[in-house]
Amino acid sequence: MNSKKHIAIFASGNGSNAEKLMQYFQHHPSIKIELVICNNPNALVLEKAKTKQVESILISKAELKTSDKLFPVLEQHQINFIVLAGFLLQIPSWLTQKYQHHIINIHPSLLPKFGGKGMFGRFVHEAVIAAHETESGITIHFVNEKYDDGEIIFQGNCKVDKNETIESLANKIQQLEHLYLPKIIEQIIV
Ligand code: GRF
Repeated sequence: MNSKKHIAIFASGNGSNAEKLMQYFQHHPSIKIELVICNNPNALVLEKAKTKQVESILISKAELKTSDKLFPVLEQHQINFIVLAGFLLQIPSWLTQKYQHHIINIHPSLLPKFGGKGMFGRFVHEAVIAAHETESGITIHFVNEKYDDGEIIFQGNCKVDKNETIESLANKIQQLEHLYLPKIIEQIIV
């Protein structure tokens, strides 16, 4: 009997976090990365999923709005848990309701600071530096219908140095994300 928990990763872009998750859970006794859901046919994450032999499904913005296409896929793959790792579309309420406390997001700032619509990637780091923040970090949180708003599960910090650039800060944040996201998922699920 296969009793592993099945995770679907939702990602729209590079997929470096998705790749780390696929590596970390590759031989895990109780967690399997079962699917990658992506809304961008040119996203690098699709290549990464292919390399790791994880099935990927493309979904359009319009298709995400109703459960018609995606829900049967999630059921067929027996998805227990959803991880948003750089997924840029808003999660509709039909999905948050079906997966209450079973969808998490990772955000590259210390929420509630520097979150919300349009706050992703380098825009976040640019805003952090422009605001002369002395620290930044990552937030892993449960997902509700609003952007970057659900209950916070974990935050990890880093210093923002005086001569920090968007690139150097992005680097620090990415290291934190890659270190903590797999471990936090493991803690929540197992
Ligand atoms: C990460 O910074 C994550 O916090 C945010 O989107 C980015 C995804 O990066 N939600 P990658 O595609 O995993 O490299």
